[in-house]
Amino acid sequence: MTRIARRTALFGGLGIGAAILAACSDTTTSASSSVAVSTPSPTPGQRVVEQSLVARPVSLDLGGPTVPTWAYGDSAPGPVVRATAGDFLRVTLDNQLPADTSIHWHGIRLNNRADGVPGMTQDPIATGQKYVYEFTAPDPGTYFFHPHVGVQLDRGLYAPLVIDDPAEPGAYDDEWILVLDDWVDGTGSTPDDVLAKLIADGGPTTRGMGGMDHDGHGGQGEQPWGDAGDVTYPHFLINGRVPSAPHAFAGKPGQRIRLRIINAASDTIFTVALGGHRMTITHTDGFAVVPQEVGAFYIGMGERYDAVVTLGDGVFPLVARPFGKTSGGQAMALVKTGSGAAPAADVSPSELAGQVLTGSELKPHESSTLPSRAVDAKANLTLQGSMRPYQWGINGARFGENEPVTVKAGERLRLDVTNMTMMTHPLHLHGHTFALPSGLRKDTVLLAPMQSMPIELDADNAGSWAVHCHNIYHAEAGMMIALNYVD
Ligand code: C2O
Ligand code: CU
Repeated sequence: MTRIARRTALFGGLGIGAAILAACSDTTTSASSSVAVSTPSPTPGQRVVEQSLVARPVSLDLGGPTVPTWAYGDSAPGPVVRATAGDFLRVTLDNQLPADTSIHWHGIRLNNRADGVPGMTQDPIATGQKYVYEFTAPDPGTYFFHPHVGVQLDRGLYAPLVIDDPAEPGAYDDEWILVLDDWVDGTGSTPDDVLAKLIADGGPTTRGMGGMDHDGHGGQGEQPWGDAGDVTYPHFLINGRVPSAPHAFAGKPGQRIRLRIINAASDTIFTVALGGHRMTITHTDGFAVVPQEVGAFYIGMGERYDAVVTLGDGVFPLVARPFGKTSGGQAMALVKTGSGAAPAADVSPSELAGQVLTGSELKPHESSTLPSRAVDAKANLTLQGSMRPYQWGINGARFGENEPVTVKAGERLRLDVTNMTMMTHPLHLHGHTFALPSGLRKDTVLLAPMQSMPIELDADNAGSWAVHCHNIYHAEAGMMIALNYVD
């Protein structure tokens, strides 16, 4: 109960906090494992995909460093959840953590009750409780899932969610999933300690965000993302491994491989390159793009990119270099198709020094464009905040104190997003995919310091949805707002 009260306080007294507390005390005082269900049943004939997950404390070997952390099962990333577009997913989460939790299915256009946001769409899942998430996954693509409680994402609680396309052209021989992460948990502090320190180092917080438009970081930082992160991480991982003991993918020269790359980090934008190769980006955030050949690309927290690569002969480093971070090294995996020495953990493929693609410059594939139509409603989303005090918000206040954005079902909504800070923020919208001015479909987009971007969406999924920065420390400090459907 303490934790719920603390979170409610942190979010500035969300209106329904009292309801959550009441509901929670009911369930905790009754059975040891009560089961709550998010939605009704599959439609007749709909294929049902069932999976069980256990969130629990574990000790993980990152390839040298061994850390106590929290994970789904006994690895980070956790087990892949996989289905085909149109399937009904029924995923049971058993919470064996010493804290409340939830699962958010990042990027999926699902029913609101399965969206996994305590305080908005469900009660938190208490220790010892089970919760059944039931939803249809309508759109194929590369997604992931993680808790929507506190800064739990920055532990080992994340895993891929892949929705296959029943009409997949399948022009590739194999598929590899790469999950990128920044790692601090169990190395002497936890993500909760990190957040507490950011807040303490920022000094006293003030009410309201007046005069807090620019953060306290000195200077502009590097192009294009400025001061990209707040947290110093000792390790960067691909598929749970440090670069000195990397995850190795085996293939054959000439094979075409589909890479599904997911940035599950909490505070790190990466530049991704595969040494000795060009990659052809085919999708972002699940949606097809006009295939774009690149040597390297940026990936923000919460973003996903699919790319196809034709393998050369040898041993190659696939590097994810943390943008703007000078300690902790980089993340790396190996691609082995022949003989050769393993690259060093600090290898610098020449592709990283060449042109790096910014995802929002991709062009939408014609199958992915949002049909053009007149805008019915407009709203501003102004991203604000500062390091000192450590406070982040949208539209003048932190989450819970800011005014929800409202929309009516059926409307085309335009959101004019402006980043009024000197940091980059990956803006993520739940339950919908928005279109950039080029028509490119995304659910998470990087906004550089002082950048403005109009985005449009069709209000076709009623409910109460979170819109937030996917830097989990910013989100937890208040950089979030509700998008509520009204009659
Ligand atoms: Cu992965 Cu609310 O986000
Ligand atoms: Cu942010």
